[in-house]
Amino acid sequence: MKELSLHILDIVENSIRAKATEINIEINEDLKNNIFSFKIKDNGIGMDADFIKNVRSPFKTTRTTRKVGLGIPLLDSAAKRCNGKLEVKSHVGKGTEIIVFMEYNHIDRAPLGDIASTISNLILSNPQIEFTYVHKYNNKSFNIDTKEIKKILGEISISDLSVIKWIKEYINKSLIKIRQTFDI
Ligand SMILES: Nc1ncnc2c1ncn2[C@@H]1O[C@H](COP(=O)(O)OP(=O)(O)O)[C@@H](O)[C@H]1O
Ligand SMILES: [Mg+2]
Repeated sequence: MKELSLHILDIVENSIRAKATEINIEINEDLKNNIFSFKIKDNGIGMDADFIKNVRSPFKTTRTTRKVGLGIPLLDSAAKRCNGKLEVKSHVGKGTEIIVFMEYNHIDRAPLGDIASTISNLILSNPQIEFTYVHKYNNKSFNIDTKEIKKILGEISISDLSVIKWIKEYINKSLIKIRQTFDI
């Protein structure tokens, strides 16, 4: 069972390969409605309607190094196993949005895993891409926005290791905060 943060990484890597300059990641832990969902939206090259129809098949890929693409098909089956689904919305020249729903407490739902490392590593390796990351847990949430961070940093690079470390710690601390079940 692959952790969901690694599936998210796969989907974001598709966006990067599609030449996106802006990528929005949103994770929603809705325990009240027993739904774990996430969406990844990009402004990359997009896919046409015909391509979208078949993108859940492992044989649909624009890779040239191997003949099968597995990122979307594997996530699609993981979602279905958890009584959920994977939706693909895409327009050529505009971008793509992948939305995944799963039953929160389904026995086959993989844990999220180390999302703080996933997000901070993505920012580290792609300093030219603007990322937003929103994480909701019931009625609480936090977000990060690389555009905002870059404004504050001024001359300092966002891929400076001390900045990346700060981002990772901020995500981990914020996750603990929003996951506290009581309201103060
Ligand atoms: N965000 C995206 N923007 C444009 N095309 C995409 C995007 N995500 C996936 N695709 C297309 O769908 C194909 C299949 O994706 P995937 O299942 O992850 O396999 P792979 O990345 O190994 O090809 C990709 O090769 C690419 O052509
Ligand atoms: Mg892929």
